[in-house]
Amino acid sequence: MLGRLSVYPIAYNWTRTVKIEKVVDENPKVKTFYFRDRLCLEAKPGQFLMVWIPGVDEIPLSVSGVYSNGLASVTVARVGEATEAMHRLKPNNPIGVRGPFGNSFEISKGKILLVGGGTGIAPLAFLAEKLAENSCEITFIIGAKSAQELLFLERIKKTLSQLKSKIIVMTEDGSFGQKGVATDPLDYLLREEKYDMIYACGPEPMIKKVFLAAEEANIPFQASLERIMRCGIGICGSCMLGKYRVCRDGPVFSSHQLREVIDEIGSYKRDFNGNKVFLEI
Ligand SMILES: Cc1cc2nc3c(=O)[nH]c(=O)nc-3n(C[C@H](O)[C@H](O)[C@H](O)COP(=O)(O)OP(=O)(O)OC[C@H]3O[C@@H](n4cnc5c(N)ncnc54)[C@H](O)[C@@H]3O)c2cc1C
Ligand code: FES
Repeated sequence: MLGRLSVYPIAYNWTRTVKIEKVVDENPKVKTFYFRDRLCLEAKPGQFLMVWIPGVDEIPLSVSGVYSNGLASVTVARVGEATEAMHRLKPNNPIGVRGPFGNSFEISKGKILLVGGGTGIAPLAFLAEKLAENSCEITFIIGAKSAQELLFLERIKKTLSQLKSKIIVMTEDGSFGQKGVATDPLDYLLREEKYDMIYACGPEPMIKKVFLAAEEANIPFQASLERIMRCGIGICGSCMLGKYRVCRDGPVFSSHQLREVIDEIGSYKRDFNGNKVFLEI
């Protein structure tokens, strides 16, 4: 069973105004924002917040961590109007947060493979911290376009340092680690090792490739997916994926659920008007 909220999401559906306490530049396009909010401290890896950027928009963002000093964080790539406005925010500026919403990754035991690309690394870095508490044996594939765009490498190294573990870094231009994409090592790894669970988060065509490889190797799989979101609590229908609402039934989906929407994942999304937008494979 994927992790579920213990109470109906409406209990988390009020916007709290919080002050940004710290901003960290992770790379030229990505920043992490730290803030203090009691409900966010309950967040589990895979859950997301609706974050209101005053005067601009409200957008869905995965929780990238909760910390023993009472802070929580989101990690944001600059891609458009709202995320650009968020990148201009400084400590002491206010933002609004609703949530945490959605389900979470089920924390497995045993031998685990994590595959992350781009900002998809953020919820997986948080997940790796929980898996480490279970003494899992972890192989973590981190994918990025270039060395400059790598995310959370030091944080992941620190998390895995006490475990039997391996980090494989793939960059598209070969400027760090191995040259290639995050899915390139899969053939070899799945031939050589028997994993108990594979987790993925990142661009959807990448997730689809990892899912198909997991299916072929008969290994259970969980992935966090993104769709356009407005309400975040299952009412508006803008995040439909087949019969599912990603905000309410996801954002984490199991192998069983992904088989039901295989024609859609990695192929197309819906835009703000509900029209199909085909994805680059
Ligand atoms: C559950 C979930 C978790 C996410 N977690 C993260 C995260 O941790 N870090 C991160 O950087 N991004 C994350 N995103 C994506 C983030 O929400 C979008 O990048 C953001 O909404 C773009 O807003 P914008 O105004 O800057 O860009 P826009 O100009 O609106 O659009 C730029 C791109 O973002 C997509 N997008 C725009 N609005 C949304 C929306 N409301 N929901 C989904 N996609 C949208 C558009 O299709 C377009 O491809 C997540 C999305 C979802 C659904
Ligand atoms: S965002 Fe409204 S139903 Fe999912």
